[in-house]
Amino acid sequence: MDIARTPATPDGNPEMADAAPVKPTEPPLIRREDYKPYPWRVPEVSLDFTLGLTKTRIRSTMLVERNPAGEASSVLRLNGDEITPVEITVDGQAINSWSMDGDDLCVTLPGESHEVQIVTEIDPAANSKLMGLYASNGMLCTQCEAEGFRRITFFPDRPDVLSTYRVRMEGPRDRFPILLSNGDRVATGEAADGTHWAEWHDPWPKPSYLFALVAGDLVCNRDSFTTMSGRQVELGIWVRATNENGGDLARTEHAMQSVKHAMKWDEETFGREYDLDTFNIVAVSDFNMGAMENKGLNVFNTKYVLADVETATDGDYDAIEGVIGHEYFHNWSGDRVTCRDWFQLSLKEGFTVLRDQLFSAAMNSEPVKRIEDVRVLRSVQFPEDSGPLAHPIRPDSYREISNFYTATVYNKGAEVIRMMRTMAGPERFRKGTDLYFASHDGEAATCEDFVRSIEQGAGLDLGQFRLWYSQAGTPKVSVSLDHANDTATLNLSQTVPPTPGQPDKKPMPIPLRLALFDRKTGKHHGEQLVTLTEAQQSFSFSGFAEAPVLSINRGFSAPVAIDRAVSNDDLVFLAQHDDDPFARCEAMQDLVVRHLCGALSGSLDDRAREQGRQAIGAAFAAVLGDGSLDDLMRGELLILPGETYLSEQMLVAEPAAIHDEREGLKAWLGTTLEARFVALHERATAAGHGTSAAAKGARKVKTQALAYLAAAAPGRAAGLAAAQYDAADNMTDRQSALMVLTGLDTPERTHKLLDFYDRFKGNALVIDKWFSLQSSSLNPNLLEHVKALAEHPDFTLKNPNRVRSLYMPFTGTAQGFHAASGEGYRIIADLILALDPLNPQTAARFVPPLGRWRRIEPGRAALMRAQLERIAAAPKLSRDTHEQVSRSLD
Ligand code: PHE
Ligand code: ZN
Repeated sequence: MDIARTPATPDGNPEMADAAPVKPTEPPLIRREDYKPYPWRVPEVSLDFTLGLTKTRIRSTMLVERNPAGEASSVLRLNGDEITPVEITVDGQAINSWSMDGDDLCVTLPGESHEVQIVTEIDPAANSKLMGLYASNGMLCTQCEAEGFRRITFFPDRPDVLSTYRVRMEGPRDRFPILLSNGDRVATGEAADGTHWAEWHDPWPKPSYLFALVAGDLVCNRDSFTTMSGRQVELGIWVRATNENGGDLARTEHAMQSVKHAMKWDEETFGREYDLDTFNIVAVSDFNMGAMENKGLNVFNTKYVLADVETATDGDYDAIEGVIGHEYFHNWSGDRVTCRDWFQLSLKEGFTVLRDQLFSAAMNSEPVKRIEDVRVLRSVQFPEDSGPLAHPIRPDSYREISNFYTATVYNKGAEVIRMMRTMAGPERFRKGTDLYFASHDGEAATCEDFVRSIEQGAGLDLGQFRLWYSQAGTPKVSVSLDHANDTATLNLSQTVPPTPGQPDKKPMPIPLRLALFDRKTGKHHGEQLVTLTEAQQSFSFSGFAEAPVLSINRGFSAPVAIDRAVSNDDLVFLAQHDDDPFARCEAMQDLVVRHLCGALSGSLDDRAREQGRQAIGAAFAAVLGDGSLDDLMRGELLILPGETYLSEQMLVAEPAAIHDEREGLKAWLGTTLEARFVALHERATAAGHGTSAAAKGARKVKTQALAYLAAAAPGRAAGLAAAQYDAADNMTDRQSALMVLTGLDTPERTHKLLDFYDRFKGNALVIDKWFSLQSSSLNPNLLEHVKALAEHPDFTLKNPNRVRSLYMPFTGTAQGFHAASGEGYRIIADLILALDPLNPQTAARFVPPLGRWRRIEPGRAALMRAQLERIAAAPKLSRDTHEQVSRSLD
C-alpha cells in the first residue's frame, strides 16, 4: 500500500478521511468552582395549569428582581428542555426582545423589577423520560429534581433561586377529580362544562426542583398528627382509585404508621417539627427513583408505599419505613435548608440518609440495621469508589447531574457525617445540627456551611476532616498490634488510593473505635476512640500482662477497608466473644473472606483449605447454637460475603471461580451442618408467623437454612421449599421458597413459578419480584431464560421498576452477566441502547456494571470494553449515558 496516499476509511470512502472524525459534541463540563449567584431573584411564582393528558398548557407568572448579590445583567436567562415559548409578556406587554440560546430562553429586561409571564404547552403522555410533567396510568404527576422543572416551563432551574409558589390547576373533573400541589389548598371551584379547579399555596420559599403537582382519580388514606407545639397536621396517602391490583388503599397502612413515627422521631431526636397543615404522599407506578421530597407533597414509587403481608416481604416493610422517613426528614434537611448548587447534593442526601438510618435503627434492631447499612456500602459504594466513576462526596464537575445520585453522595455522605457524630458524641452533635438549622433556615447552603456549623456547635476542629469532602477513594488502613512487657502497641497506617483526576492523596482523619480483649476472660476494659490523622501512627496501651485481642473499627466507625494482621484464632475468638455486634459479624466475615480469597489465589493446599473450612464450620455451629442471639442477628452472622465484595478483594477477579468457590463453601457448610439447618428450619417454621421482631427473625433464618440446604442436599431442600411455599401465609416465606426453587433443577420450580404468576397476575409490584427472582437465580440456563423473559407480555421498557426487576439482579450474576461468551454483557448493552432514547436516566444506571471491566480477568474485561465501545459508537446518545460510558472507557 502506498503510504503517501490518503488512507481509505473502513467503508472505502476516501473523502471522509480528511474531515475531522464525526464525533457528537461533548456535553459541557459543569464545574463547582465556576459557581456564580444568579443575577436575578424570583421571590414569587404563580403557575396556572390547564390540564390534559396529551396537552397541558402552563401560564407562569414570575416576579423578577435584580439580585444585589449577583453580577448586573439585563438578560434574564431561563432554562428550558424540549419546550418552546407560546407567549411571552413583560409587565403585561407582549415583547419581542427575547431569543433562544440552545435550550435557554433569554429575555432582555430594562429595569430593576418586572413581572414576566410565559405560556408553554406540553404533551405529558409523550414524556417517556419521566422528568417534568408526565402521565402514569391515566394520572398526571411531576418529577422536577434535579432539572425537570425546565421541561414544564422556562425558569431559572437551579436550587439557589427560591420562590413562593401559588398553583392553580384546572381540568375535567371526571378524569382528574383530585388536584394536588405543594403547601395547603386555599380554594376550589367548578365550571358548568365539567371542569373544576383548585388553588394551592406554599408559604415556604423553595427552589423549582421541589415543585410538585398531581392530578388524577385517586383515593386517600387519611390520618392526622399533632406536632410538639400542638399543630394539627392532616396526613394523606393517595393511590389510584381504579387499578388492576385492587385494594391498594388497604396497603397504605404501614406507610401511614411510618409517617407518624418519623414525625415523632424527628421532633424527639433532632427537634424538628412539621411546618404545614397538610402532608400528602402520592404513590405512582412509573417512577425513576425511590421517592421525592417535594414540599408538602411527596411523590413515591409505589414500591415504597404499598404493603400487606400477602404481597410484601419483611425487607419491603423495612424499606418502606426507611424511605418514608427519608423523604419526610428532607422537609428540614433539604426543603427548609436546601442546596446552593448540585455539587452540594450530599448536604441534603448524606445528612438525610444518616437521619433515616438512625430512625430505622431506633424503630428496629440497631445493630442489625448497622450491619445491613455497611453491607450496602461495601457492595455498592466501595466498587464505585475503586472504579472509573469514583468521585468525592462533593464532586468537582459533572456533565449530567442525574449521574451523581450515587451511593457515594448518599451512603458515603452519610458515613462522613456519622463520623462527625462519633467524634462529637450524640449530644454535642445535636448542638451542631441545631446551629446548622438555625443559621441556614430558608437558605440554599453548602457542605462547607454544614461542616462549619457542626464545628462550632459541637466544638470540634474539622480542619483536616474536610478532606473527606474533597478526596475520593476508600482509605485502606493497615493494623497490627505488638505486645512487650505490659504494653500493647497499636500500629496504624493509611493509604488513600488514586482515583480519576486525583493521583495523590493526603492522609485523612480516621476515627476508630476499639477494644482490647483479655484472652482468658473474653472481656475488655471499655471501648476507646483513637483517631488516625497521619500516614502512620502508633498508640500504646499499658496494663496488659498478656497480649490482648484487638477489636477495631467497631460499629464501622470509619468507612475504610481494614487490613488487619491477626491470626485466624483471634478472628474465631472475636466471632465468639466480641460484645460489639458489628465487630462480631465482621470477624465472621473476615474469616470467610480470607479463606475464600486464599483458596482463589491458589495459596491454600488441600490441608489448609480443609482447616479453613473447619474453622468456619465451627464458627457457624457456634452461631447456630448460641441461645443468647436473637434470630435477626443470627441471620446476619450466617450471611456469606457477596460475590461483588469478594471480587473487590482480589487483584484480578475471575467471576466464575469466585462464584464456584463461594457456592462450594456454601455446599460444604450445608452438608456439614445439615441436621442443624433442618432443625433450624423446623423451629423457625413454627415461630415465623406475625409481625413481631422474633417472627421476622425466624423468617430470616428460615430462608438461610433453605439456601444452605439447597446447595448441599437439593432434593431435600426442594421438598422443604415446596412445602414452605404451599404453607406460606406471607410474602417473605413464599418469595424465599420460590427463590430457592428457581435455582434447583426440579419440576417444582416450574409449578411454583406458574402458581406465583397466576396468584399475583396484575399486581405489578409482585410480578416485579417474579421477574427478579428468575433473573438472579442460580439457574444454569440463565441467559436463555432472561432473553425469554424480555419477550414476556408483561415486560415493558416503559416502566422503570419492571426494567430494573429484570435486569438489575442479572448484573450481579456470574453465570449470566459474566458468562464467558460475553452474551450477558451484550444483553445489558442492548438494553442500554434500546432504553436510552426513551428514558436516559434509567438507561445510564446500567452502565456501571460494565464499567467494572478493569477489575475483571483480561478475557472478560475485553468483552465488557467492547460492549462499552459499541454503546459509545451509537449515533445519538443521551448526556446521561454518554457521560457514564466515556468515563468508564477512560
Ligand atoms: N431526592 C430524592 C431522594 O433522595 C431522590 C430523587 C432524585 C428522586 C432525583 C427523583 C429524582 O429522596
Ligand atoms: Zn434524599
